[in-house]
Amino acid sequence: MNILLLMTGSIACAKASGLISLWKKNGHDVKVVASNSALEFVGIATLEGLSGNPVMTSVFETNNMMDHINVSRQTDIIVLAPATANTINKLANGTADDVITTTWIAAQELYKPMYIAPAMNTKMWEYPATQKSLSLLNEWGITILSPQDGDLACGETGSGRMMEIEDINKAIMVKSDKHIIVTAGGTREFIDGVRYIGNLSTGKTGAHIADFYTSHGYNVTWLGAINSVQPKLLCKKVFYETFSELSDQLKSQLKKQKYDIIIHAAAISDFKVQSVIINDNEITTNRDSKLPSSNNMTVNLSKNPKLVQKIRGWSLNKKLKVVAFKLTNTDDSLVRKSAILKLLNQDDIDYVAHNDLSEISDIKHSFNFYQSNDTMIPCHTTKDLCLAILEKAL
Ligand SMILES: Cc1cc2nc3c(=O)[nH]c(=O)nc-3n(C[C@H](O)[C@H](O)[C@H](O)COP(=O)(O)O)c2cc1C
Repeated sequence: MNILLLMTGSIACAKASGLISLWKKNGHDVKVVASNSALEFVGIATLEGLSGNPVMTSVFETNNMMDHINVSRQTDIIVLAPATANTINKLANGTADDVITTTWIAAQELYKPMYIAPAMNTKMWEYPATQKSLSLLNEWGITILSPQDGDLACGETGSGRMMEIEDINKAIMVKSDKHIIVTAGGTREFIDGVRYIGNLSTGKTGAHIADFYTSHGYNVTWLGAINSVQPKLLCKKVFYETFSELSDQLKSQLKKQKYDIIIHAAAISDFKVQSVIINDNEITTNRDSKLPSSNNMTVNLSKNPKLVQKIRGWSLNKKLKVVAFKLTNTDDSLVRKSAILKLLNQDDIDYVAHNDLSEISDIKHSFNFYQSNDTMIPCHTTKDLCLAILEKAL
């Protein structure tokens, strides 16, 4: 694994240097970024010697000007340890005025696991701004490795002592035993061997959801369309093309693995092609042939069954939580509400992620996450939706 360690100015820099040795011993590649203050506590020679890599100490390094962007692209996980009150508060404000904060902010939305291990005097820890910043960062999906109570370097006793390095290591290496399956992308229903009825789903949402949970240590299976945007991070990938392939793959996955939750984001065709009529002749469709293009054609569609109603029946885990997606296309809030209620009232569905066609664009993709009629969490991004699911369903 590639680990990016960001270090800020605390006596705990000496302790955090032990993390580099531990990770190297365990076969990981470690790159270190150090603030100017961190370098008052530990030397570049030590950090470079332990990690075996050059240490980044400035945004403006000749020949490496874009490293504040590149380093986070090249790593699997990002750990800020020790994290000073100063840097924590800057990160919560979006300040990017040094190598640490710039690198950190440039690493957002990559869906990589990000951890903060604070180290500071008790009063600095208890300072309202510090607590507020940490809770904001946590809300944004960052894991806070809370400090422990004990003797502090300043001679006082209280909370603020950086978590022991073995515990930091355990916390970031642990893989959750929870299994999540995410369906994504859109089905194709073939008319013949070259033509199909499809939909506009890109699979982007499902890929983001899979990456979010992978980056948070969950075991993720992504069941996606062959032409879908794929998750960037390492998870189990299973592909489908048609409704019936999706149905078969879903059944087989649910029967062989005890999943805890399904996030059913795939855009599934309500219809399949039953037959086509050309020159008054009804022809049963076949993917081995190409129908002539010289005549008008009537396509007969028949209804596909609702997959969501079969999920729990197929599942090894009868307590599987089911998150369904509902896309509406209406300005009428009552019509929207009744479509959501209809789903929530079904026994097969536990939660509904709703959005309306008007709320989807390249830059905006917001959802309302419903647990019941009365419990709705507005989610402005896919990440917000993942956090809402994490809070309510996992
Ligand atoms: C001896 C000494 C120890 C310090 N220890 C801490 C600490 O544990 N936590 C902290 O938040 N600040 C600590 N500071 C203060 C920070 O180093 C200071 O706020 C600095 O501006 C942080 O910069 P940085 O966040 O860019 O690394 C310490 C300062 C000194 C001189």
